Amino acid sequence: MRSKIVAGNWKMNKNLVETEALLTELSAKLPDTDAEVMVAPAFVNLASSVRHLESSTIEVIAQNMHFAESGAYTGEISGDMLLNIGVDTVIIGHSERRAYFGETDEILAKKVNTALAKNMRVLFCFGEELEDRKSGNHFNIVESQLKNGLFSLEQNAWRHIVLAYEPVWAIGTGETASPEQAQEMHAFIRKTITDAYTTSIANNVSILYGGSVKPGNANEIFSKPDVDGGLIGGASLVADDFAAIIKAI
Ligand code: 13P
Repeated sequence: MRSKIVAGNWKMNKNLVETEALLTELSAKLPDTDAEVMVAPAFVNLASSVRHLESSTIEVIAQNMHFAESGAYTGEISGDMLLNIGVDTVIIGHSERRAYFGETDEILAKKVNTALAKNMRVLFCFGEELEDRKSGNHFNIVESQLKNGLFSLEQNAWRHIVLAYEPVWAIGTGETASPEQAQEMHAFIRKTITDAYTTSIANNVSILYGGSVKPGNANEIFSKPDVDGGLIGGASLVADDFAAIIKAI
């Protein structure tokens, strides 16, 4: 059974004091929900966030990890380091990692494999750029990102995968994919997984939509049958907005 998920990707925002203040406010405002709620603070604030949310249902997740076990990779963080502080879900493949830090499909596939080998859960992001959408190439791009990042996985591994479709043109721009565009792509993603694996794997994977989700549009986007939740950037930094989006699911 696929679950409903609302995850907040805080990106490079909020220092330690601000992180704890936001977690406190969010915990106080968290609506009753059967959805999984996750937040991804910056690496330096993960351990304290886990402690802060010890008795909360909100899960702390990481924004990235390296594919190597350990070693001479200055500035990087390993999966074991995350597990050691109680973080077992990791975002991999965010478009900002792909665009600004040179993370190719090949690197991302290695990261996914490392995380899964450690029994971590992977929130895998992908999505087309504006030119791809304009030229009608968006389905091909998404298909190849899925194929190169995930389609060498064994069937069982899919239980630990959550997908997040984030069209790059909708991230931080205030321009959201319409609910119809989101539904169309999510249905395409399920069909692509059905073709490569099985209908049951395709129907059981949660597919989140990300890109300028706000309290004002969340309801409509989440009402689509193949949209299982959202990966939220800007609006997850404001407790009232994030709480309203959680309520919408
Ligand atoms: P925004 O919600 O700010 O558009 O960011 C989306 C995103 O990149 C989440 O990972």
